[in-house]
Amino acid sequence: MSGKKIAILATGGTIAGTSPVPGDNLGYTAAQLRVEDLLASVPALASLPLVSEQVAQVDSKDMTFEIWRKLAQRCSHWLAQPEIAGVVLTHGTDTLEETAFFLQSVLAPAKPVVLTCAMRPATALVPDGPQNLLDAVSVAATPGAHGVVAVCAGTIHGARDVRKQHTYRLDAFGSGDAGPIGYVEEGRLRLLRSWPEISGDSEAALRKFMQARRWPRVEIVMNHAGAGGAIVQALVGQGVDGLVVAGSGNGSVHRDLEAALCAARDSGVMVVRATRCAQGEVLARPGDVLPHSAGLSPVKARIALMLSLLD
Ligand code: SIN
Repeated sequence: MSGKKIAILATGGTIAGTSPVPGDNLGYTAAQLRVEDLLASVPALASLPLVSEQVAQVDSKDMTFEIWRKLAQRCSHWLAQPEIAGVVLTHGTDTLEETAFFLQSVLAPAKPVVLTCAMRPATALVPDGPQNLLDAVSVAATPGAHGVVAVCAGTIHGARDVRKQHTYRLDAFGSGDAGPIGYVEEGRLRLLRSWPEISGDSEAALRKFMQARRWPRVEIVMNHAGAGGAIVQALVGQGVDGLVVAGSGNGSVHRDLEAALCAARDSGVMVVRATRCAQGEVLARPGDVLPHSAGLSPVKARIALMLSLLD
């Protein structure tokens, strides 16, 4: 390590989960242990220069924009300290890819922000959280590392590409066609491609998000056999600001749903077309009536649209 410190920010999740029945990997409660407990579970961290902070304590299915505001603020704070090399964020796996993409969109930091997690609670017979946390600290302490990444099961994923793709396995995340940024092997990194982009342009997005008195409401609807327009009409009736449609295949949308989405767009609602496919991105075709998400998954397209609507 460089001698600089790593800031560990905790938000809850299964990595901080416990069960009264040791070894129960399903019937546990997420977000029980505090950041001090997580650090104490990894003896190798005891000798490292760390600072820590409990920013939230949630099951990440309950993540909110308010918590994101606090997280962005605390990440900015720590990243601005000259003695801090990088930030590690412990997070639930369920919405980790959304928080990672949000933070990359509003920070695009010149230092690393490393999200990590666990698929098993801390009371599992063999918990995965301690190794993931140690790996995340190794990544955050690596000279030259930058941008927001996720580290799980020894693999480093970029914020734009990372996606939870398995409900149960320890190696639950993938980066789709892009592939991982690299691997962590006994504390050493084997890099396969470059770190996420650093951008000064994200500052405006951060300022608008922090200052917003109301965040734009963007909802996701899905195409499927027999899809119709009723949900879209109901959302427009409630004053929705934007809609992402998780289309089938190459972003295809049932004609009845498409008609409702076009009517929503014509009434001033921003509409973006992503795909419900786990891999690949929507490719433009002549005559497309709705814009595509430029490779973003539905949940990430929702965040991008929400941030763009802050304008
Ligand atoms: C959560 O997302 O907070 C619970 C599930 C998990 O971390 O695996």
